[in-house]
Amino acid sequence: MNILIVGGGGREHAIAEKLRENPQVQKLWAAPGNGGMAAFCELVPLKATDIDGVVAFCREHPVDYVVVAQDDPLCLGMVDALQEIGVPAFGPNKAAARIEGSKIFAKNLMKKYGIPTARYETFEQYESALAYVRGEAPCPMVVKADGLALGKGVLICSTRAEAEDALRTMMVESKFGASGSRVVIEEFLTGPEVSVLSFTDGETIVPMVSSMDHKRALDGDQGLNTGGMGTVAPNPYYTPEIARRVMDEIMLPTVAAMRAEGCPFKGCLYFGLMLTADGPKVIEYNCRFGDPETQVVLPLMESDLLTAMLATTHGTLKDTPVCFSDQSACCVILASGGYPVKYQSGYPISGLEEAGKTAQIFHAGTKRAADGTILTAGGRVLGVTCVAPELREAIKKAYAAADQISFQDRHMRRDIGQRALAAKA
Ligand code: AMP
Ligand code: GLY
Repeated sequence: MNILIVGGGGREHAIAEKLRENPQVQKLWAAPGNGGMAAFCELVPLKATDIDGVVAFCREHPVDYVVVAQDDPLCLGMVDALQEIGVPAFGPNKAAARIEGSKIFAKNLMKKYGIPTARYETFEQYESALAYVRGEAPCPMVVKADGLALGKGVLICSTRAEAEDALRTMMVESKFGASGSRVVIEEFLTGPEVSVLSFTDGETIVPMVSSMDHKRALDGDQGLNTGGMGTVAPNPYYTPEIARRVMDEIMLPTVAAMRAEGCPFKGCLYFGLMLTADGPKVIEYNCRFGDPETQVVLPLMESDLLTAMLATTHGTLKDTPVCFSDQSACCVILASGGYPVKYQSGYPISGLEEAGKTAQIFHAGTKRAADGTILTAGGRVLGVTCVAPELREAIKKAYAAADQISFQDRHMRRDIGQRALAAKA
């Protein structure tokens, strides 16, 4: 099998590493890939969103399967375009990717099919949104841009004045472009958050091991929201009893709802859940693997990833065993100082080989210079993952390896996994 992976972050590196465990995988391409994937993938200089470019590449090369890992090409219809030229691809088509690409679509789906989520209203007009925020809206409230906004389109507002500012940013100043021209305003929920990725072929759904993200830039959940500064798996809040409830009240109803709407979801469906006093509720769906959740989930996967992916594409998941280790994993993200706002790139990274002896190093924002040196090339630079029988040990090993890697302005949180450890105690 010759496989093209579309994307170039830590998630894509983790997917590529797992795919190449299968001896049937002969050739891997990555578009655009990164400095770590360059060691075993042929990098294709195309943007992940370049649908015409990817289609042309598949026409010119013997590509058997495409793994579309990133949200924007999925929402733009890359899987549909590949289907049209007869190339099978992992991931939902454009209609099914709306579950992430439009928060209004996702919220209306949940309302129609009775799937638990925060109460909400949707608005297309600034004036009516403003009237709602000044009047009936619950306070605190959460204002969300309808479309994709690089994870930045969610604003938690503790006062009505803050919510007015949020509306102005999205609907008048268009800070998130067209994504913010329509908004969802919802009630603020509290409780532990859990990420659960799943494989689904539109009929059968198979959850992967649960995980916990750490979204803020600084220790103690301080600082700005980022793409994720570290993860652990499993998530200790996600007990077998809660998992059963989520299967019955959320996962199966979601898969059935998408089918009923005429857009069965095939690929990886990501459930961002909040475990509230009223039970588990959906905070968000993503139409793809999470980043950096993937960097702890796939290292715990014991069955073959390619087999599971192909089963979602071909509708044979019911007959495909998927299993996970009962060990724990921790991933610590090494970022460029100043991320997620302003940072410098192009610094050489040292210690990768040493750290790689005890940890899996997933590259994100890196590139390989002509002389083979690995340079920083983005906000999130590397993910350092360790697996161990106990979470405490996985955390310790991940930090020991992370400390062996250095580059100028290196930043990491020091408390990844501490909340999970406290929850277990
Ligand atoms: P999202 O971009 O949808 O993942 O939202 C980012 C983060 O905002 C989530 O991980 C939650 O921590 C928070 N959030 C989103 N919606 C709500 C809500 N209704 N209540 C409380 N927190 C929320
Ligand atoms: N880690 C959250 C996401 O991938 O959206």
